[in-house]
Amino acid sequence: MERHEEQWEWGYEGYEPAGERLREALCTLGNGYLATRGAAPETDAGEVHYPGTYVAGCYNRLVSEVAGRQVENEDMVNLPNWLPLRFRIPDGPEASPGAPWWTPDQDGLLEYRQVLDLAQGVLNRTLLLEDPRGRRLRVEQCRLVHMGQPHLAALRTTFTAENWTGTLEVESAIDGSVTNAGVARYRALNGRHLTGHTTGAAEPDTVWLRCHTTTSDICVALAARTRLAGTGPGGPAEPVEAVTEPAGPRPARRLTLAVRPGEPVTVDKTVALHTSHDLAISDPLRAALTDLADAPGFPELLGSHRAAWAELWRHADLEVPGKAGHILRVHLFHVLQTLSPHTADLDVGVPARGLHGEAYRGHIFWDELFVLPYLNVHFPETSRALLSYRHRRLPEAVRAAREKGYAGAMYPWQSGSDGREETQTLHLNPRSGRWLPDHSRLQHHVGSAIAYNVWQYCQASGDTDFLHTRGAETLLRIAQFWASRAEYDRGHERYRIRGVVGPDEYHEAYPDSDRPGLDDNAYTNVTAAWVLARALELLGILPEPRRRELCEDLGIGGEDTERWQDVSRRLRVPFHDGVISQFGGYGELAELDWEGYRRKYGDIRRLDRIMEAEDDTVNRYKASKQADALMLGYLFSPAELAGLFRRLGHTLDDELWHRTVDYYLRRTSHGSTLSSLVHGWILARVRRPDAWGYVQEALVSDIADIQGGTTAEGIHLGAMAGTLDLVQRGLTGLETREDALWLDPVPVPELSEFGFTMRYRHHWGVAVRMLAGELCIGLPASAQGPIRVVLPDRTVTVGPGESCRLRLAGN
Ligand code: BGC
Repeated sequence: MERHEEQWEWGYEGYEPAGERLREALCTLGNGYLATRGAAPETDAGEVHYPGTYVAGCYNRLVSEVAGRQVENEDMVNLPNWLPLRFRIPDGPEASPGAPWWTPDQDGLLEYRQVLDLAQGVLNRTLLLEDPRGRRLRVEQCRLVHMGQPHLAALRTTFTAENWTGTLEVESAIDGSVTNAGVARYRALNGRHLTGHTTGAAEPDTVWLRCHTTTSDICVALAARTRLAGTGPGGPAEPVEAVTEPAGPRPARRLTLAVRPGEPVTVDKTVALHTSHDLAISDPLRAALTDLADAPGFPELLGSHRAAWAELWRHADLEVPGKAGHILRVHLFHVLQTLSPHTADLDVGVPARGLHGEAYRGHIFWDELFVLPYLNVHFPETSRALLSYRHRRLPEAVRAAREKGYAGAMYPWQSGSDGREETQTLHLNPRSGRWLPDHSRLQHHVGSAIAYNVWQYCQASGDTDFLHTRGAETLLRIAQFWASRAEYDRGHERYRIRGVVGPDEYHEAYPDSDRPGLDDNAYTNVTAAWVLARALELLGILPEPRRRELCEDLGIGGEDTERWQDVSRRLRVPFHDGVISQFGGYGELAELDWEGYRRKYGDIRRLDRIMEAEDDTVNRYKASKQADALMLGYLFSPAELAGLFRRLGHTLDDELWHRTVDYYLRRTSHGSTLSSLVHGWILARVRRPDAWGYVQEALVSDIADIQGGTTAEGIHLGAMAGTLDLVQRGLTGLETREDALWLDPVPVPELSEFGFTMRYRHHWGVAVRMLAGELCIGLPASAQGPIRVVLPDRTVTVGPGESCRLRLAGN
């Protein structure tokens, strides 16, 4: 495919303290196991900088006192910082040891450039600084978090004195004094997750640090080797002086370098990190020291790292021209850094904010709904692992359901290490300073998202083993939950699911009601009906012995499946004013003065906070944070959705859907990055010209930080992966069902030409390309059978080694 060179870099010119945390998040490097924010290695955590290093699935619980109450939170732990590498010119006017270590916040910074090289997966920095005596020092730095060997990271720094001769002091350290302090709203909470630090030195040139998390007792060990790189035929250059200071909490190695004008000196820092969660190790410190002893020099590490990235890019090839293509490449880069092939060996879920910051405490929400469909056709092993994370926590979800008196599995709205409900009971409104009850845990629709992902993964990958084992157990348990959660209402002659919160988190209760939750949320009920229908379908296709086994194990009898049939056909879907009601009673809420609020506040994305600070509540108004009923158009193709409504005894025609889209579009504040994505998607699917505005907003949501400061606390992985999927499935209408590839492209004039490769069943590198009015599909040669491609007006068969060009109807 065509390569747009300009799209492979993402850079920042100049130093801007106010934007530094956002850059750190967007310049994070990771490999699915480990990630480190793009902080300057000369800096410590403070107002401007926040170096953070996170390992997927490394959580710890702490109790804090909030608003006079004890609250317990589980957080993804900020691990010891491996980055520190600082320097100073010792014989300046303020002689060493008093001379300050240099940081970008000092005067004398003449040039500053920071560029992510997306193809190679490295972060490059170039700076030129001048001290008060006019001595200029150029610093070039290249950082990697190894994509092939996930426990390794490296930092190469080249110093060049431009106009002076003398010495330069360099200190390379591991900082064990870190805490979780990346999110201002959480600062009142206890953030000391690490304890029991021990440190030491090892030959050659190595310091190490070991500690453990306070309650989950995960042992973490880091070792760092710092040495001069060889510059000439004589082998590695020697520092004038080298001292190891192994004492904690910041074991360091200090080098004094001789510098001469125009002669570069290079310092390489190589780091290994292990935790006691890792497989095939005995002791994390031993593993880190062994990895480090085996680690080659920086050039070789860079070579193998690049090769690993090249492979990833081949598996996830995506070509979209222009600015959109550039941003999509950045999104893809961060998705792959959070969920890489290494994830397939881990017991982790999809962290909503990546491994890029501490927002939402590294928790796992329903956001995987926006992520797995993309991964399914590129890295199915990763999808399978993410679903296995949910399956392993099935007993906990069953326990949660049982405690509330329900059957089946009630998955938590926020999940962490053991799958218990991690949603906080109180949250802070930073506008009013008040701590308020948080009912978002009533978003039981998360269970449907998990079932949907199980089904989609199996459809896309053809992994019947998973479907018949872990997949079936998960899906059937979720079906059991919905069947028991639904109660029959004689008045309505319908089943109802009462007391829930839908995807729109603004509404959590009826106005003036003491009871949290709402009744008959259309999204919840329709997706619950879908889960029940799929559970019945699954029971029908399972091999008989396995079906019997599962029914015995899960206690599913004839009367249960009868109830599933009944509930899946008679769940209540409310309507008002000729549109689908977001929930029962939505039509009776007051209209909001949208213009008035926009005039008064400008940005009204977080209307909930604004209104609470005004002593009002958004519960009283027809105002949504994000797509709720409209999410149905995101999950299901028009034909599938119409079929679901038919099953529920309703007619969903184009007019009703278009009216519903218009209705909620006017009443949504887009307070989540997922909102513009979903609206862009559904508007594109109904061929509306206003789709592009929403797509654009979804594209820039992180790079321009449109939610006002939130990206600095971690990327929005759902929106990032969702925009990739928007091209892949939204614009092409791609579905993988009934053993065929279904395509129904919708033209978006602003994005009419693009291409990607995907993995479908056993075919690797299936190339899909849209050109004006044409769709091309190519299959690489293989021993596999042909695939069936279904378009709205015809079905074609494409065999290995063949490609076909299809003129699209209406063009
Ligand atoms: C959104 C949720 C989402 C969560 C984590 C919230 O702001 O409303 O839908 O799951 O963020 O990304």
